[in-house]
Amino acid sequence: MFSDLISLADLSSDDLLSLLALADELKAMQKAGKPHRFLEGQTLAMIFEKPSLRTRLTFETGIFQLGGQGIFYKSKLGERESISDVARNLERWVDGIMARTFSHRAVLELAEFASVPVINALTDKLHPCQVLADAQALREHKGDFANLKLAFVGDGNNVCASWFNFAARIPLNVTLVCPEGYALDDDAAAFAQREAKGEVTITHDIEAGLQDADAVYTDVWTSMGQEDEQAERAAAFAPYQVNSKLMALAKKDAVFMHCLPAHRGEEVTDDVVDGPQSIVFDEAENRLHAQKAVMVALMKRT
Ligand code: CP
Ligand code: NVA
Repeated sequence: MFSDLISLADLSSDDLLSLLALADELKAMQKAGKPHRFLEGQTLAMIFEKPSLRTRLTFETGIFQLGGQGIFYKSKLGERESISDVARNLERWVDGIMARTFSHRAVLELAEFASVPVINALTDKLHPCQVLADAQALREHKGDFANLKLAFVGDGNNVCASWFNFAARIPLNVTLVCPEGYALDDDAAAFAQREAKGEVTITHDIEAGLQDADAVYTDVWTSMGQEDEQAERAAAFAPYQVNSKLMALAKKDAVFMHCLPAHRGEEVTDDVVDGPQSIVFDEAENRLHAQKAVMVALMKRT
């Protein structure tokens, strides 16, 4: 069993499948109007160093629907006082902490010092909650993960690294299709390649990478915190834009996925993100259900 959610790589495949099953169950309860106040009276501290629409709104709505209360706290960790002191204050007041930080180290430090569960809500390295919600949506559209191929087109960033971690535990094939110099770091790639039951590959060849893909995923070319690299990134990634020509290289019935926010006209064109293959708003919806599952798994008292 896991006591924090920092990286999907920390979870077993059974943990991941149980979380996804719970997310499906909570989604069904929500749709049926069935009460599911499993965290009655509990509080979640929600620390944000970076902007957010989906993560903030889904965590806050989620904890409320579970009978608890979210407390939004915008702050750059480690500036006013040490992260370990923040953790040792928070654990005296709240039942769980979620944090969106620049440095991955900051979330690790919170988890090290806080006795209550800590949930990674995006760092410069990983975005595990996103990929849980994405996986729930992918399974809704494509059925079982086995034999599916997901082509992640663009930057080997935090979202991509979480997909690699997912593939290390759940048998599906993931290919990163990226320009040279923009793959994810060697350790993360080697870990996934060593552990994966499916195929985990990196290619710079767009045609080869998209061949037989069941899902085409992209994310912004410039993540939060990389704004001063924007111009050079735009030039490097231009050939990797997900437009209808690129989508046509994947299977006919491939779905299009994006964590959002989308930079329309950059990494994806309007016709793709708004087109019939797009499941981006299903992914966004599932942020609510998947994160409710994470909170219940970590915070429910037995
Ligand atoms: N996908 C995602 O995490 O969105 P926000 O940045 O709006 O939270
Ligand atoms: N890779 C993006 C994801 C945003 C949800 C970023 O880190 O800005």
